[in-house]
Amino acid sequence: MRGYLVAIFLSAVFLYYVLHCILWGTNVYWVPPVEMKRRNKIQPCLSKPAFASLLSVPCKKCVVVGNGGVLKNKTLGEKIDSYDVIIRMNNGPVLGHEEEVGRRTTFRLFYPESVFSDPNHNDPNTTAVLTAFKPLDLKWLWELLTGGKINTNGFWKKPALHLIYKPYQIRILDPFIIRMAAYELLHFPKVFPKNQKPKHPTTGIIAITLAFHICHEVHLAGFKYNFSDLKSPLHYYGNATMSLMSKNAYHNVTAEQLFLKDIIEKNFVINLTED
Ligand SMILES: *[C@@H]1O[C@H](CO)[C@@H](O)[C@H](O)[C@H]1NC(C)=O
Ligand SMILES: *[C@@H]1O[C@H](CO)[C@@H](O)[C@H](O)[C@H]1NC(C)=O
Ligand SMILES: *[C@@H]1O[C@H](CO)[C@@H](O)[C@H](O)[C@H]1NC(C)=O
Ligand SMILES: *[C@@H]1O[C@H](CO)[C@@H](O)[C@H](O)[C@H]1NC(C)=O
Ligand SMILES: *[C@@H]1O[C@H](CO)[C@@H](O)[C@H](O)[C@H]1NC(C)=O
Ligand SMILES: *[C@@H]1O[C@H](CO)[C@@H](O)[C@H](O)[C@H]1NC(C)=O
Repeated sequence: MRGYLVAIFLSAVFLYYVLHCILWGTNVYWVPPVEMKRRNKIQPCLSKPAFASLLSVPCKKCVVVGNGGVLKNKTLGEKIDSYDVIIRMNNGPVLGHEEEVGRRTTFRLFYPESVFSDPNHNDPNTTAVLTAFKPLDLKWLWELLTGGKINTNGFWKKPALHLIYKPYQIRILDPFIIRMAAYELLHFPKVFPKNQKPKHPTTGIIAITLAFHICHEVHLAGFKYNFSDLKSPLHYYGNATMSLMSKNAYHNVTAEQLFLKDIIEKNFVINLTED
C-alpha cells in the first residue's frame, strides 16, 4: 500500500513538473538553455515579408517620401513613381504635386489627427495604415467603421469625422514597429522625467522602420529640417514654416536627425533629395 502511495506521489510530482515546463515554456529535459539564434541575419529576397500578400513583387525597392519642404520645386515625381513600393505619410498630397512627388502611393501611414478628409485624395490603390499612438486611436477607427458616434475628446487636434478610405484599404500598423522606432532606432528612454512631454517618433521615422521590415532596398526623399532658417517651408504643400516644428515638444528632432545622418552615412538608405 505504501509503495502505491509513494508511486502516485512521485508521478504527481513528475506530472506537475512537466506541466509547469510546458506552461512556462522552459526546457523539459534540463539541458542548459541555448541562446535562440536570430533568423534575420541575411534576408534572401525570396523570403516572404509581412504584408507580402499586399505586394506583388518579391524583391522590393521602396521609397519613403517625407513631407519636407525640400521637395518643393524639385522634379522627383517620375523617379518616385518608378519604385515598387511608395510609402507616404499623413496628409502629404499627391494631387496637384505630381511633378514634385509623383502619383502612386502603396502605403500611407496616418493617425486620426492627420488623415485626409477630402475624398479627392483617396487613391483606391493605396493601403492606408493606421499608426495608433493611443488606445483612443483604435476606438476612433472602430467607431468610424461601425458607424458609431465619434467622441473627439482626448485628441490633440480635431480628428477626422469620416474616413475617405474603404474598409478593404485599411490596416493597423503593428505597434512593434513604433516601439522599435522609439526604443531601438531613436534610443528614447522608456520613462521621461515628469517635467518633460513624453516623446514619440515622427511618422517619417516610423515609415522608415516599416520599410526596413518589408523592403529589400530603402530610399528616402523629402527628409530635411533646416532650423537655421525658421521661415523656410516645413512641407512641400501648404504654408507651414519650420518655426512650427521647432516648437514641437512631442518629438526629439535632434535624435531623428542623428539617426537619419547615421543610416545615410552607412548606406542603409539612399537620400534622393541629395543635390
Ligand atoms: C519655388 O519656385 C517658386 C517659383 O519659381 C519660387 O517663388 C519659390 O520661392 C521656390 N521655392 C523654393 C522653396 O525654392
Ligand atoms: C490602380 O492600379 C491599377 C492596376 O495597376 C491601374 O490600372 C489604375 O490606373 C490605378 N489607379 C490609380 C488611381 O492609380
Ligand atoms: C539652412 O538655411 C540657411 C538660411 O537660409 C542656409 O544658409 C543654410 O545653407 C541651410 N542649411 C542647409 C543644410 O541647407
Ligand atoms: C497659403 O498662403 C497663400 C497666400 O497667402 C494663400 O493664398 C493660400 O490659401 C494659403 N494656403 C494654405 C493651404 O493655407
Ligand atoms: C534628444 O535626443 C538626443 C540624442 O539622442 C539626446 O541627447 C537628448 O537628450 C534628447 N532630448 C530630449 C529632450 O529628449
Ligand atoms: C538629403 O540631402 C540633402 C541635400 O544634400 C540635404 O539637405 C538633406 O539634409 C539630406 N537629408 C538627410 C535626412 O540627411
